Amino acid sequence: MGQSVLTTAFARRDGVLYCEDVPAETIARQAGTPTFVYSAAVLRDRYRRLAAALAGVKHRVHYSLKANANRAILSVLRELGSGADVVSGGELHRALRAGFHGHDIIFGGVGKTGQELREALKAGVKLINVESEAELYLLEAIARELGVVAPVGFRINPDVTVENPHAYIATGSRGHKFGIPHDEALDLAKKARALEHVELIGLDMHVGSQLATLEPYRAGLERLRELAERMVGAGAPIRYVDIGGGLPVRYDEGDVEPDLDAFARIISPVVKRMNAELIVEPGRFFAAASGVLLARVLYRKRSGGKDYVIADAGMTELLRPSHYDAYHLIESAKPSGERAVVDVVGPVCESGDFLAQDREMDDMEPGDLLVIHTAGAYGYVMSSNYNARPKAAEVMVDGARFAVVTARESYDDLTRLEQAHPDWRDV
Ligand code: LLP
Repeated sequence: MGQSVLTTAFARRDGVLYCEDVPAETIARQAGTPTFVYSAAVLRDRYRRLAAALAGVKHRVHYSLKANANRAILSVLRELGSGADVVSGGELHRALRAGFHGHDIIFGGVGKTGQELREALKAGVKLINVESEAELYLLEAIARELGVVAPVGFRINPDVTVENPHAYIATGSRGHKFGIPHDEALDLAKKARALEHVELIGLDMHVGSQLATLEPYRAGLERLRELAERMVGAGAPIRYVDIGGGLPVRYDEGDVEPDLDAFARIISPVVKRMNAELIVEPGRFFAAASGVLLARVLYRKRSGGKDYVIADAGMTELLRPSHYDAYHLIESAKPSGERAVVDVVGPVCESGDFLAQDREMDDMEPGDLLVIHTAGAYGYVMSSNYNARPKAAEVMVDGARFAVVTARESYDDLTRLEQAHPDWRDV
């Protein structure tokens, strides 16, 4: 794999890898490893490109916090005009703390608790995307209790087939747990009409992530348009049409960056016909290429005819390779020029703990710095403390400066909530 999947923000100068204008090695020395490094320039560039492509249609970008909810990233995107898309009380809390207002936030998710719905209403969110009839009634009851009218979108399962790299990240086909089946939505809209504390104003879909083609957007949106037309007939004017996230990024040579103009050409006319405001919820598109994971090579070893590079990061930091068989480009921050075919593995006591398998890449020695690319989305947020491993640090670079934006966890953090002397209750 060559340099071509890399953005200019993470490129080599005189043979060593830089993160914008800061050498990766400098960050690794000062912040330690493993550490995620995010580029503010990449976030800005990607946000501006998407906003420019959609400029011809009334729209709002709601960044999907699930990809990376780091406060520094949220601040960069918020300053550019982004709203937030959250799927839990915790993400709502993070969004509010990062300075988003209620009306900048949309709340989704298949299993919202009553408590989370209450928090969303109290925060005055712009839209709650409801995924079932039972949730609609629960929301009505809570909104009544609070004396408010809940702004509701219906998340529709449009039943479209998508082409993407893993079944776990396809969400919009018949039988998936997500959304209201599209052929049941009109009936539910009529039921919603009879409720006093919910107002149906939006239709929403999210058909999958890392979508290889734009076709599912076209097919799904067409379903939403037909529905919206019938809903207007049933007295529910649809003001927002939310087409979810899913824009792909380039992890590997075979992947392509989305054609944003083609995306806009497919979406805009339909949304205009619906006389609605478009909402998009990209997560990966902004965050993935903005980040790398830096790790140190601990050991080299040969076993069972294989060469292993054992690093100080693994599935606990970046779960994607072992969970989705995902490809992340890995290289040395200072390549010697030698190449080797290796497995890059972490220290976790699991055979599934790998970052790459049978990969031809830079040959590496203990002490070398590994750079795992395109790790800004679904990296830190999916990391765990398995094997009592403290979570990695997070760093942001902006030009020639960098800052630790999340400190590395300490051993004390690992046991902070444990009760040394449990408060036993007799019942
Ligand atoms: N909106 C909804 C309702 C979603 O479920 C998702 C992602 C997004 C927006 C953002 O999708 P994006 O633009 O990032 O594709 N952990 C997996 C990805 C799971 C995506 C879940 N939903 C991975 O590492 O590939």
